[in-house]
Amino acid sequence: MSSDNEIPIPQKTPCVIDEEPGKKAWCTCGRSEKQPYCDGAHAGTGMTPMVVDIEEAQTIAWCGCKRTCNAPFCDGSHSQLS
Ligand code: FES
Repeated sequence: MSSDNEIPIPQKTPCVIDEEPGKKAWCTCGRSEKQPYCDGAHAGTGMTPMVVDIEEAQTIAWCGCKRTCNAPFCDGSHSQLS
């Protein structure tokens, strides 16, 4: 398992998306080409996506930097990145 500092940073801003209800798989490994969602790129890393069940339509700020302390949502931690 790699340390947190080795997880790629796909972007330094949240992915703000108007979501419809349903299950969403948030990328935790930082390797997906379909941020903020999993595309299977975690294969071989030992990591798995975080599956979230969105119960009602809403706008979500998904963490795009993978450094949030409130995964899978942005908590502002990206502002600490250089
Ligand atoms: S984008 Fe990761 S904490 Fe905001």
